[in-house]
Amino acid sequence: MKYDIANRRIWFKGEIINVNDAKINVLAPTAQFGLNVFEGIPCYWNENTHQLYAFRLDDHYDRLLRSVKLIQMDCPYTKKDLKEAFISVIRENEYEENLSVRQTLFVDGFGSWGSEGPVEMFIAPIPRGKTSAEYNKKGLNCCITSWRRISDETLSPRIKCGANYINSRVGQREALRNGFDTCIFLNEAGKVSEGPGSCLFVIKDGSVVTPKLTDSVLESITRDSIIQIAESKNIPVLERTIDRTELYTCDEAFLCGSAMEITPIISIDKYVIGNGEIGTITEDLHHSYLDVVKGKCDRFKKWVTPIYA
Ligand SMILES: Cc1ncc(COP(=O)(O)O)c(C=O)c1O
Repeated sequence: MKYDIANRRIWFKGEIINVNDAKINVLAPTAQFGLNVFEGIPCYWNENTHQLYAFRLDDHYDRLLRSVKLIQMDCPYTKKDLKEAFISVIRENEYEENLSVRQTLFVDGFGSWGSEGPVEMFIAPIPRGKTSAEYNKKGLNCCITSWRRISDETLSPRIKCGANYINSRVGQREALRNGFDTCIFLNEAGKVSEGPGSCLFVIKDGSVVTPKLTDSVLESITRDSIIQIAESKNIPVLERTIDRTELYTCDEAFLCGSAMEITPIISIDKYVIGNGEIGTITEDLHHSYLDVVKGKCDRFKKWVTPIYA
């Protein structure tokens, strides 16, 4: 049966229930301290094969379990459990549209910020288009935020946990207050890191350049996909430290992520990027990315998991 968005079914503590019936204890460490780890897993509807494909499911669960290990939560679920629960809740809703699926492991109970459990899970599908405004823009006017990205020495950006998003929030709020769509963070060394919920690429003289994974960025699955797609097209890719002024003089720039896909940046701190429109390499990568996620590209078919039997 199909459910309207306000009554969608979610997987919550082992059951599939109406989203309105899911209750979380206000004293749980997840509610008090953002003690949870999560994934935003994209699914794409392919109208030709009449199939919904989850993108890089195993890679999302590998990252989720790395977050669990680093934050030290007592996770009772195996990768197989995580996957089966994910597929069951999407099937239950009978979705035939693009989704972003939030799969969260959280510390429940009456503990504190030091607790390892009890760990519970919810899985909530979010139809795309219902995500944040900046994710739905055609081109972004960005600023460099005055806040620095969290670092591996304080709160590692490698861990995808709820609490890390307060750093994202302060940068995003500053950008919006000052009339920009979103921001780019510098890391503690003053070098370019990433956006509040996305990774960054610039294009200069035909090469695609992105900060290294040790420059204070999330180990983004979209970032890795774009690197592999670009390499398959013989576009040179460089993972290296990027200076702030290189942003102002690049030919093209874009932010990327499961929610953002590939979204062009048209200005940074009011410096126009390229001719202020989507660049040719960005556009080419975006089209290829959309083919890949919909399972239309044989070379990367291994990355998609069909949801319906
Ligand atoms: C801070 C941050 N960087 C990068 C990304 C992109 O990661 P992915 O491509 O795995 O969605 C996200 C996505 O949530 C993010 O929150």
